[in-house]
Amino acid sequence: MEDLTPRKEDLDSIEIASRDEISALQLDRLKRSVVHAFENVPHYRKSFEAAGVHPDDLQTLEDLAKFPFTTKADLRENYPFGMFAVPRDRVARVHASSGTTGKPTVVGYTASDIEVWASVVARSMRASGTRPGDVVHVAYGYGLFTGGLGAHYGAEKLGCTVVPVSGGMTPRQVTLIEDFGASTIMVTPSYALSILDEYRAQGLDPRKSPLKVGIFGAEPWTNAMRQEIEDAFDMHAVDIYGLSEIIGPGVANECVETKDGLHIWEDHFYPEVINPETGAPVADGEVGELVFTTLSKEAMPIIRYRTRDLTRLLPGTARSMRRMEKITGRSDDMIILRGVNLFPTQIEEQIMALPELAPHFQLELFKEGRIDAMRVHVEVHTGIADHGARVHAGAMLAARIKERLGVSVGVQVHDPEGVVRSQGKAVRIIDNRAKG
Ligand code: DLL
Repeated sequence: MEDLTPRKEDLDSIEIASRDEISALQLDRLKRSVVHAFENVPHYRKSFEAAGVHPDDLQTLEDLAKFPFTTKADLRENYPFGMFAVPRDRVARVHASSGTTGKPTVVGYTASDIEVWASVVARSMRASGTRPGDVVHVAYGYGLFTGGLGAHYGAEKLGCTVVPVSGGMTPRQVTLIEDFGASTIMVTPSYALSILDEYRAQGLDPRKSPLKVGIFGAEPWTNAMRQEIEDAFDMHAVDIYGLSEIIGPGVANECVETKDGLHIWEDHFYPEVINPETGAPVADGEVGELVFTTLSKEAMPIIRYRTRDLTRLLPGTARSMRRMEKITGRSDDMIILRGVNLFPTQIEEQIMALPELAPHFQLELFKEGRIDAMRVHVEVHTGIADHGARVHAGAMLAARIKERLGVSVGVQVHDPEGVVRSQGKAVRIIDNRAKG
């Protein structure tokens, strides 16, 4: 793979500033953000008062811990525009999360918020190895989801040629990548796998594709999956993180030269990691729930948003800003099976270790009598027709999961294409426990 490390002179100066400079900028912006939220959003005035805190109590970055958290429920209760801190006519755009239950959560941006968003996505893309002039194929969904438009504006800002394909129509994705000569693709890692299968189905060698960089996010994926995708396409696979409540994609991104976790763009997003049970901040290096406070958002400042994402903070490497480790999972995706805590990413790692199995999977939860049980649905790689090899691969997977994760599960090995494909975020867990 080509060395795509960006030149130092092309970075924003804050990316390589000293920690002191970063902290000073953060404190200044944090004070303003807390005042902005308190003065313009009734929800924050109420929640600060209920917690007995006032914006004046924020004198150091650590003082932020005195302030109450914000949760998804708060956004739902203030549906649709109650969390906005500017008059509605200053809101240039809204996005919303689909939300599996109840009302969607709505987020808003001023024109200046959209500008900041584009610049953090452009910074993320540059960190990933994308350069001005590159053709960028955007296969994140366009619409209320922040993935497509977030990537789109960032790619334009960086000076790329954007191909706004959105998700779906997989055969056409391959045609456009090939015909337009895309060197960067932005897509969920699970949909990247579907595009990979389509390359093979069309008899094309993915290693000969024009792609050099894949910027993958919106769902958890493992380093084992990175290896698989990098080998298959002969390209760099880099992790991008974000969430609509904070801005969308571009909150944090890996650097192509190190791929050692995601640098958080700390000049705009202030991270904390807390103990999810007690809410107390934990030290850098300790795993817990990621919490973000926006430092520059106008339309919808967010104070201490509980992401439910589990990770830990690490010191800067390729950039001065701190890193977050690749996300293991969300606390709401954690499966507790007969007392053992499990994340879908842990199953992914075990599947990736077996060459007979394709990297597509779903986890079905069901009741066996009164006890919770789980069945892993996987499929064999195309070309493995031998029944014995299949049975063996399934048994190997069950044995690995038992040995390494400490829990017995069923495994069902399907034919190629037998596991449902995603065109956006993969659905990993099918919960049939209520069905008895
Ligand atoms: O998924 C924004 C995004 C779009 C990020 C495209 C990256 C690329 P939401 O739909 O609000 O926003 O979902 C946010 O997705 O809290 C995580 O649980 C998960 N997530 C996002 N990026 C990653 C990642 C977008 N790189 C939720 N690794 C977050 C693991 C991720 N999980």
